[in-house]
Order: sequence, then C-alpha cells, then structure tokens
Amino acid sequence: MMRTHHCGEVTEKHIDDTVELCGWVNRRRDHGGVIFIDLRDRTGIAQIVFDPDEVAAFEQAEHVRNEYVLRVKGCVRHRPEGTVNLNIPTGKIEVYITDLEVLNSSEPLPFQIDDDDTTESVRLRYRFLDLRRDQMQKNMRLRHAIVRSLRSYLESRDFIEIETPILTRSTPEGARDYLVPSRTYPGEFFALPQSPQLFKQLLMVSGYERYYQIARCFRDEDLRADRQPEFTQLDIEMSFIDQSDIMNMMEDMVRNLFAEVQDIELQNPFPQMSWHEAMSRFGSDRPDLRIPLELVDLGDVMKAVEFKVFSNPAKASDGRVAVMRVPGGTRLSRAKIDAYTEFVGLYGARGLAYVKVNEVAKGREGLQSPILKFLPDEVISVILERTAAEDGDLLFFGADSAKVVNDALGALREKLGHDLGMVEGEWQPLWVIDFPMFEYDTKAARNVSLHHPFTSPMVTDGEIDPATALSRSYDMVLNGSEIGGGSIRIHKKGVQEKVFAALGIDDEEANEKFGFLLNALKFGAPPHGGIAFGIDRIAAMMAGVSSIRDVIAFPKTQKAACLMTSSPNEVDTAQLQELNLKLRKPLQKDEGGDQG
Ligand code: AMO
Ligand code: AMP
Repeated sequence: MMRTHHCGEVTEKHIDDTVELCGWVNRRRDHGGVIFIDLRDRTGIAQIVFDPDEVAAFEQAEHVRNEYVLRVKGCVRHRPEGTVNLNIPTGKIEVYITDLEVLNSSEPLPFQIDDDDTTESVRLRYRFLDLRRDQMQKNMRLRHAIVRSLRSYLESRDFIEIETPILTRSTPEGARDYLVPSRTYPGEFFALPQSPQLFKQLLMVSGYERYYQIARCFRDEDLRADRQPEFTQLDIEMSFIDQSDIMNMMEDMVRNLFAEVQDIELQNPFPQMSWHEAMSRFGSDRPDLRIPLELVDLGDVMKAVEFKVFSNPAKASDGRVAVMRVPGGTRLSRAKIDAYTEFVGLYGARGLAYVKVNEVAKGREGLQSPILKFLPDEVISVILERTAAEDGDLLFFGADSAKVVNDALGALREKLGHDLGMVEGEWQPLWVIDFPMFEYDTKAARNVSLHHPFTSPMVTDGEIDPATALSRSYDMVLNGSEIGGGSIRIHKKGVQEKVFAALGIDDEEANEKFGFLLNALKFGAPPHGGIAFGIDRIAAMMAGVSSIRDVIAFPKTQKAACLMTSSPNEVDTAQLQELNLKLRKPLQKDEGGDQG
C-alpha cells in the first residue's frame, strides 16, 4: 500500500504516530521558512508541514505547486495554538513531514478548484478537474447512495435487474430518436431507447414478474435544466398487481430513500390528486403544493361581459378564463407587474390583466384596475367572492385557450411563490392520477397519448371515446418536479388494437412498428404495470442543485454537446462510406454548443 491513512481521517487519535499519506496539493503557503500544504484526497484535507530542518523534504517542497500529486511520510502532532481549525475533522492536527515523493506534477489549472464562480462552460470543458471540487465529489457520492438505497429496497423484495438493448427500434415516449446507422444493413438504422418500455413489458410476458433496471435513456428533445439527452431511469415493472399495489410500494420506496440517505421524513401516505383537479387548481400536472396560490375559474360569468379578451375564451370550447389571488400583492410595483406580464408572454399569454384590491368592503370603489370599466357589478362580486379576496391582495387574470392559461398562470404561480417567499415547508410529494388517455395534437390533427400508447384505459370494454377516456397512469411529483411516471399496461391484444386505432395507427403501421408486442400479447400476457423514476432529477433535488448537470459526471450542455470530448464531431469519409451514408450538405460549423 502506498499509504497508511487517508487525509481526512488523521485526527488527535494519531498524535505521535507516523503516517503515510497520498493526495493532491489543495493549497500551499510559505510562512517565513516553513511550508504548509493542504493535502487533499477523497476523504478530505490534512495539513502537512515542511520544516527547513528536514532538508531533503523541504527542498523538494519548495518546488511543489497546486494540484501536484504527493506521497508523504511524517509524524502527527498538535497544531500550534491559534492555528486550530474546528471546521474540519483534521483541524486540530498537522503532519510533520520527513519524506516527500512527488508522484506527479501539474500545470497551472485553467481555473481554481475552489472558485465557485467559474463559468459552467469552463467547468464542462475541464470536467475532470471540476469533478475534483468538494461539491461535485459530494454530489457523485450522494447519487451513488441514492442508487444503492433503491437497489437494496428492490432486491429485498425479489426484483431482479435485467439489462435491455441500447441498439433497438424506436420506442415511443414522445421525443425524437437518436439514430445509429447500421453497417451490415445499408440504409437501415437502430434507434437508441427513449426508455426500456417495450422490453420490460415483454419480460412480464416472459414470466419474470418483478423487474428493475438502472437504465440509460436517450431523447432528442429541447433541453432544460431538468432534461438531458441521455439520462438515467430507475425502471420498474411488475405482474399481477393493481394500481394501488404499485403506488403503495413505490411511495414506500421513495420514503425509505429519503429517510435512509438524508434523514428526511416524507409524509405517509402521499396525497393523490386527479389530473383534472391539478390542472384546474394549479394550471399544471405537476403542481408544487408548497406554494399556496390557486387558480379559480371564471368562464361561466365572463361569457356575457363586453370585454372580448375575456368573453371570447369564456365562450370557446377549448378556452379558459381564470383568476389567481396573490395575498398582499398590491405592494407589487408597476414595473414588477410589467415584468410578470412579459414573463407570461413566454408561455403564449397575450396579456396579464390585474385588479388591485385596496378595500374589499367598498366593492368597485375599493378596487383599482384598467379593466374594471369592462366588468359589471355582479361579475365583480363573483370574482371577489370566489377568490375570497382580502384588502391588499392582487388578482391576476388569464384568458386564452386552456393550454395557454394553464401554462402561463401555472408558471406565474410558481414564480410568484418563489419571488414573494411564499414556499411553505421543504418537501411536498404528490401523486397525480386519472390522466386523460389522449390529447389532441392540433398541428398533427390527431390524438396522441398523454403517457404512452401501452397505458391501459380506465375502462377496457366497449368503445373508447378519445375525448373523455381516462388512463390508469400515475405520476409522482415532488416540489413541482415530475420525478416518476408509470401506468398499468394493456395486456390484451384487442384493447391494444383499440388504442392504436384511437391514435390513428392502422393495422399495417401497428404491425410494422409494434408487431412483436402485439404478437407477445397473444401468448398469455399477465396483467402488469410499472413506473420509471428520473434518477438525475431525484439526485439534483436531494443535492439541492438547480440543474441535473450537477449530478451527472459527464453531462451534455443545453445544446446537447459534450464540451470536454468535443462531441458530436465530424467523421471521415471512409467511415461514412462504410455506413452507406452521404452528407446532404456541408456541416454547419457551430462553436461546439456552448451554454445558451
Ligand atoms: P417518462 O417519460 O415519464 O416515463 O419518464 C420517467 C421519468 O424519467 C425522467 N425523465 C428525464 N430526466 C432527465 N432528462 C430527460 N430528458 C427526462 N425525460 C424523462 C422524469 C420522468 O418522470 N416508460 C415510461 C415509464 C413507465 O411507464 O413505466 C417513461 O419513460 O423524472
Ligand atoms: P387591452 O384591452 O389589450 O389593453 O388589455 C387590457 C388588460 O387586459 C391589460 O392589462 C392586458 O395585459 C390584459 N390582457 C390582454 N389580453 C389578455 C389575456 N389574454 N389574458 C389576460 N389578460 C389579458
């Protein structure tokens, strides 16, 4: 062994012992003839001291710089009074070095490891250095602890991990596929899996009953702080269960995870809310229930008002008119309100009407707003009554298609909650259930699955009405983030065919794309269901970081590139030829996908 101890473990217990340590030079200070070095390894930092009396070691130490890799031997002693650091476990000791071996040198770093202000693009370009940072080391360990806890929970319940292919067919989860050209089949492609969905269902047909996998998934979609092109799911499937069985077990697993890894007690049971209620009260299918703001419908009373901005959406079949009361909101300045108006514009809202409630008791006279003149007294009193408005409140209105109103007011609700410091409590889990089976995609002019096409409808016999059918799906939401989603699946071929038909997928297409699934459903498929959790999202929340990039060792940028390896990258013509590929036009030279 090259060392007897780790840097972070040497304490007063070891006074007068001779120890051998290995690590990196975190910091080096020259104190009038004596050289102090903070030596760092994965366990922490030890202060090592070079005295000119130890001639050989001292002379070498004079040439040592930050991030050099050292092996040292010395005697543990108390730090002199006044130099004790109670913030670290090794803060009471130092090691008086007699032997120094420089295992490797280091060029000056492109950024200081302990500088928290380094830009993310520099951090990602030199990720191997960034990962040396204490915070990143903690994040990686936390992620490991999370996966370990989840695995051990599942293993103690007889789940087995089975790997499924990465080179496969398109799996429909609603994003674009990453394609891989086949050399052996000219002109044909594999797709990287968006999830192991179909394979895990086939494993149920094969009789494994309880499957899990820490599965890498690939989705070519617009990226955000909580989305990466490749990410990790905890993927689960079970046979002979109903919806409440799996939901109970999964929330128990998540409660156990939080308790075990971070000593956090999540509520028991998790509350459940239908999709319709979530959309109507919070404008979101993943509401952050820590924020005490709600949307209230006004469509019924706005149909007859003169103000077309409100009456048109109130009358439209897909329209919505809603109001959100912000307690104490009258203190918001005009400039703030303008900024929020701009903010909702990002979600398609064409305005953000508001009413300041100065004195409820005075009725119309106690209110202040440019839109009051358009609203009759009866409507004003309904608004005040439904919102339970109080003096000092501000009312924000949304009127548009239901989608725009929900997106805009839903996002505004979260933003206001944070801006105005209204977030209550630390952890708020929630199940969202009873999703619609389908949503109408106006661009494509057809129904698409809200979850995926293998989700069971609530009612499986008789006709399926795409406009009203609900599904047996469930999403686990934590603090406004969707951390997991799953469903009871269709296990009867006839039902699967009906759902494909409702999606406008004809027999030929169904057989071409999912023939293997339809085929498997003919041969004794058991009732089954499952779920998948976003490991990156869970890890980011537990680590308290705002981007999942901070809990992924080697993430991609927002533009889906790896700055460290400079990928994606051009390939040579010979490689393309081998794959029977020819580029249609010269590559657009981009700076390699910086943040943006
Ligand atoms: P779904 O598409 O909801 O379900 O994905 C499951 C969970 O994976 C996480 N997630 C992501 N995390 C990071 N980056 C992404 N691009 C990304 N996309 C999704 C989310 C989400 O809740 N096959 C189904 C599961 C099932 O039905 O069993 C599926 O993939 O936290
Ligand atoms: P206007 O008559 O367009 O000046 O709008 C009057 C008020 O209604 C302004 O405060 C606008 O911000 C607001 N407004 C306009 N369109 C909408 C909308 N679709 N939803 C909510 N408020 C709106």
